[in-house]
Amino acid sequence: MLRPESAEQKPDRLYPWEVQEGLSTRFIGRWIDYHEELPSTNRRAKELAATGPPEGLLVLAEKQTGGRGRLGRSWFSPAGSGIWMTLLLKPVILPEEMPMLTLLAAVAVAKAIFVELKLESLIKWPNDLYLDGRKISGILAETAGGKITAGKTGDAREAGYLLLGIGINVNQVSTDFPNDLREKAGSLRISLGAPVERGTLLRRCLAILEEEYVHACEKGFARILAYCRQYSSTLGRRVEVIDGDRRYRGKAVAIRDDGSLELQLNDHGETVRIFTGEVT
Ligand code: BTN
Repeated sequence: MLRPESAEQKPDRLYPWEVQEGLSTRFIGRWIDYHEELPSTNRRAKELAATGPPEGLLVLAEKQTGGRGRLGRSWFSPAGSGIWMTLLLKPVILPEEMPMLTLLAAVAVAKAIFVELKLESLIKWPNDLYLDGRKISGILAETAGGKITAGKTGDAREAGYLLLGIGINVNQVSTDFPNDLREKAGSLRISLGAPVERGTLLRRCLAILEEEYVHACEKGFARILAYCRQYSSTLGRRVEVIDGDRRYRGKAVAIRDDGSLELQLNDHGETVRIFTGEVT
């Protein structure tokens, strides 16, 4: 799925009609809200959620001027070189399962990258993807329009939206990144040594996202968790986790069935389970 040389001449755009050509999904990406430039696809998705759009609507931008990351950080989103998107979902799952959808998005993107490029990215709990020690993708999940669901017996029509914001660094070269990111950020192109066709990768991400999402909503998250454990860059390592104003140091010993990270704090077997946070 490398980009043919001649494609270098053509403006590289993710036009909806091109993305949807050959797209195999039933509802994810069937409606695309496309922009050359946006402050943030998550912000736009929040506005759209208020209008009651169909599940699976995808907000896509070539460039973000105010791309947002987790914990109030910004996300570098230059024109035409990455995939900056937000997917609107209406999951009918238990509220405590919501963080698992972030893991699901990370797994789907990792699988798509493997299928298309044969690159094995690692998942840094809870939702970052790394290649060659550098971050190549991040996920920002937010909610909009009220409660997501009252549980499996709840009425999905009254549910709010889950906004899955996904950023993938695709075709940047290292000098494209600002100085403060250059050591930490990577891209698929850097790891592969060749430019990547964004449309093909995007279609694959959407197809795998749909497959994993439908599977998880019907059968649960065991498959997602198994993949996370297998391709985790966190498990087995001594890490520091910052969760709000709390800070934990220990060995990451498990990703539990509820998606939480278990840290062993000392040799006496004292452990703690962390549901959200930043691992370093
Ligand atoms: C992180 O790693 O901190 C999460 C980064 C999420 C970035 C994506 S890019 C598309 C979507 N729109 C945003 O403003 N952020 C997410």
